[in-house]
Amino acid sequence: MNPNRPIGIFDSGVGGLTVAHAISKSLPNEKIIYFGDTQHLPYGNKSPNKIIYYSEKITHFLLTKGCKAIVIACNSASSTALKQLTDQTDKKCILINVIDPLINAIIDNPSIKRIGVIGTRATISANTYEKKIKAKRQDISVSSLATPLLASLIEEDADESYQQKVVDAYLSNEKLKNIDALILGCTHYPLITQLILNYYNNKIILFNVSKYIGPLMKEKLKKENLLIENGKINKHDFYVSDYTTNFQEKTKLFFPSAIILKEENIFS
Ligand code: DGL
Repeated sequence: MNPNRPIGIFDSGVGGLTVAHAISKSLPNEKIIYFGDTQHLPYGNKSPNKIIYYSEKITHFLLTKGCKAIVIACNSASSTALKQLTDQTDKKCILINVIDPLINAIIDNPSIKRIGVIGTRATISANTYEKKIKAKRQDISVSSLATPLLASLIEEDADESYQQKVVDAYLSNEKLKNIDALILGCTHYPLITQLILNYYNNKIILFNVSKYIGPLMKEKLKKENLLIENGKINKHDFYVSDYTTNFQEKTKLFFPSAIILKEENIFS
């Protein structure tokens, strides 16, 4: 395979930009093709069948763009569509989800004993984090809480004081009492890291996949001789299923050099 092919990254909306940004920092010579399924967000309140359907369509689109690797930059899709996407991309490209890198970091950390997970309804009802942690570390207790309003509040850029109230209400839930670490089980949540830290007076360990995804992608590309180590910095391509100026503005926050956002109808 030609290493000059792009890396495809997708999410329902802006959350995956936290992942795309992390990958572009670790791998500055790689070209990214991003797809935000703004027409169907939030994914978190959709049925598994719908999330699988959308994810397969986007994966097909990214494969037609020649992607050498695809990142499912969405926990809701990583927890419901991983098997289908693994079959779909078999031998065609590298496939990375956003859950396994966090599981590996957690199980390697002996100080973690009681961990909380917050995520969308789809992610929490799939229970993937708990199952995967328990399979490797039975001594860690895992408490999961669906926080369904958060992704939409972030997408909508709701007033920060309002977001803080909602964050506080969720985090004060009995299920999250006495945890020593919290998994940000939705790629939108790194955007409200400060609000989460405010609730805990900065005294909590947060697990955010952005820290691990770049080095992991680098390792996988290197192993397959697909890593571009130097050369010119590529322009990335950004696609959405429904163009909004909100998304355009958010994209610019992460990728300030003039970005072109294109609407692409891949679902008909
Ligand atoms: N950012 C996504 C996730 O990690 C999706 C949020 C949503 O669309 O509900 O789950």
